[in-house]
Amino acid sequence: MRAFVNNKSSGSLIDMQDESQNRLMRKAIGGAFLTRNLLDYEPDVDTTLSALIHRITDHPTFNLYQTLQFFQLDFLIKMAFSESPGHLAQGRDVLGLAKQGSLRIWHWYLWQPLPYLEQFIYHSPIWSRFISRPTRWAKTGIERWEARKEENKLEPKQPAKNDLLQKYIEVSEKYPDTIKPATVANLVNSTISAGGDTTAGTMATMIYFLLKNPSAYKKLQKELDDAAKSGVLSPEPRYSELNTLPYLDAVMKETLRLNPPLASPLERVVPKGGAVLSGVPVPEGTVVGCTGRVVHLDTEVYGADSEAFRPERWLESGEGRNQGMERGYMPFGSGGRICLGRYVVELEIKRVVPGLMLGFEVSLILILFCFEGEGVLIGASCERANL
Ligand code: HEM
Repeated sequence: MRAFVNNKSSGSLIDMQDESQNRLMRKAIGGAFLTRNLLDYEPDVDTTLSALIHRITDHPTFNLYQTLQFFQLDFLIKMAFSESPGHLAQGRDVLGLAKQGSLRIWHWYLWQPLPYLEQFIYHSPIWSRFISRPTRWAKTGIERWEARKEENKLEPKQPAKNDLLQKYIEVSEKYPDTIKPATVANLVNSTISAGGDTTAGTMATMIYFLLKNPSAYKKLQKELDDAAKSGVLSPEPRYSELNTLPYLDAVMKETLRLNPPLASPLERVVPKGGAVLSGVPVPEGTVVGCTGRVVHLDTEVYGADSEAFRPERWLESGEGRNQGMERGYMPFGSGGRICLGRYVVELEIKRVVPGLMLGFEVSLILILFCFEGEGVLIGASCERANL
């Protein structure tokens, strides 16, 4: 999953193997993702959710996955650069990021088992210049970063924007050795691209699971209706209110348990001296990995019905099972490299799914697989929903 610039690792967080450097960098930029700063992004969710509601009001039959992918791109670009590219308003891949994001994931899954061959083909200094081009994602980041530097020069006293780009620029001024100014664009870019298809896919899957499981759908609707009637939810519910609803939380967890978007092993390199993993001695330098979905289906932890969508399991605390379930739950990875954007994801999901369910009656009308030009949309459910 490494991002390369001129055949060198771009130095972004996700592909950084030096743990101490990663810790420093996470410490430096982590503030942008703390729960207390999370609400900085809620106005961006508000604006994008309104655009989503407009879109589906005007187009009541829609491609569920693609529409949420456009939602996610509009949200991420707003959160990162304070810009509204209008994917939802125009109903198309305005910046070319949707298609490229999906192709990138296709590339990862295809080549993950053969990293040396991938490196040889795509990152050879001799011929890669003919086949590798700067991606739309990279270009988008670099163009915005250069424009922002100029803006900040012209108006040094008032960098009015409170977006991710501005936060990273300020962090790089504070810790220039950890975040070199030249890597800011890559860093913003890799951060938001990590949250693209993963989040869109999770929202689409959550709606899909609810539509396929009417009793869960009704239960969630009832929780939302009761909370609205009793005043727990205001007429335009905020994340702080929605975050108090246990069934909504359970539905989100159950979705990510059954369908963690990163379906390939989360790789780690065994450190010096080797390690003993589940009783097996593993020599240093070995790449090992663990796939969230496999852990999530363990019947000893999640029950005999571990393959079923049953959000209630998260609300049953009997026999200490719940604790084990929380420990084994790893859609965002775990340990020191756990996903930095996991609270942003919660903010979005807990606003968007109820936003749709409170205002509309959604139903599935057709399931089809979608081929877009030469790109196959991996993991795209492409169900159409009917309001
Ligand atoms: C449902 C949505 C998401 C899922 C399932 C997800 C999952 C993951 C996973 C599995 C990892 C690797 C963790 C590990 O190796 O232990 C990761 C890393 C990361 N994620 Fe996410 N992610 C999501 C959304 C986001 C969002 C919205 C952002 C940012 C806006 C984000 C930013 C990152 C970053 C920066 C890393 C690298 C962390 C590091 O290597 O230190 N992710 N994510």
